[in-house]
Amino acid sequence: MLVTDNISHLRTARWADPRATWGLVPTMGFLHEGHLALVRAAKTANDYVAVSIYVNPTQFAPTEDLSTYPRDLERDLALLRAAGVDLVFTPSNEMMYPAGFQTRVEVTEITRYLEGVSRPTHFAGVTLVVAKLFNIIQPTRAYFGQKDAQQVAVLRRMVQDLNFNLELVVCPIVREPDGLAMSSRNKYLAGAERQAALVLRRALDAAEAAVASGQTDAEAIRAEMRGLIAAEPLAKLDYVSIADAQTLVEVEEIAGERLVSLAVFIGRTRLIDNVIIHR
Ligand code: PAJ
Repeated sequence: MLVTDNISHLRTARWADPRATWGLVPTMGFLHEGHLALVRAAKTANDYVAVSIYVNPTQFAPTEDLSTYPRDLERDLALLRAAGVDLVFTPSNEMMYPAGFQTRVEVTEITRYLEGVSRPTHFAGVTLVVAKLFNIIQPTRAYFGQKDAQQVAVLRRMVQDLNFNLELVVCPIVREPDGLAMSSRNKYLAGAERQAALVLRRALDAAEAAVASGQTDAEAIRAEMRGLIAAEPLAKLDYVSIADAQTLVEVEEIAGERLVSLAVFIGRTRLIDNVIIHR
C-alpha cells in the first residue's frame, strides 16, 4: 500500500497501467465501518482502490469543529492495509491550498437547502476539495455514502455540470446495531448522549411507519418527528425535512421518491441522518 502526500508519486502509481480501473473513496479519516463499506464496494468493482484522508478546512465554518475533528492516521492506515487498499493520499493543507490559491467550485442551488441553511459555506468547500481530488487521482469510479444525502446530490450535480469523466457510486448508510448511523463525530457523544442520539433513528422510523400506514401529508409527519425530538431532553432540533429526493425542495405530499432527513444537536454534537421513502 503506497501512502503518499506527493501528487507526482501518486500520478506515477495511478498511471502505471493506463488501462486499469481505479476506485476512489474520499474521506476525512477516523475511519469506521461506513467508510470501510465504501472501500469494499470499490474493491469489488475496480482493479485498484485509492483512499484519500484529508480533513478539509474549507468545508468547516469558523465556529465548527475543524481543530477538534478526531484523527488517528496510524489506525486508519492499518484498517486500509487490512482492507487491501492500494494507495492512500494524505495531502497537507499547504499542498491543497498553497499561498495564492483563489479558485472556487460551487454548486449554487441545491446547496441552499437542508444542510446549506445551517452551514452556508460547507458545500463550496466540499465541491472544491472533491473536484481537486478527482483531478489529482482521476478515478474511474468514486464512492460516497447515502449518510450524507445532500453531499451526494451536490456532487452528482457537479460531476454532470463539469463533465468529470467518472462514475459516482452511492452506498447505503451503515448503522450501529442499535440503529445510530455511524459517524466519526459519534466519538464526541459522552455518557447519556449516546443513548439520546437514538432519537434521530426513532424520528425516521416514525416517518416510515406513518407513510406505511397511509399518511400522505408531509407536514403532519414533520410535526410528529419534531415532537419526538422535543421529547428528548438532550436533543435540540436543527431541522427536519421531507423533500423531493432529486431537487431537495420541501414537499407537501408524500408521492414518488422523498428524502426524509434531519439534523439534531445532541449536546454540542451535530448529527444528521436520513431515509429515502417511495410511495
Ligand atoms: P467523511 O465524513 O469522512 O465521509 C467519507 C465518506 O463516508 C462520505 O461519502 C460519507 O457519506 C461516507 N460515510 C460516512 N458515514 C457513513 C455511514 N454511516 N454509512 C455509509 N457511508 C458513510 O464526507 C466527507 O468525509 C467529506 O465531506 C469528503 C467527501 C471526504 C470531502 O472532504
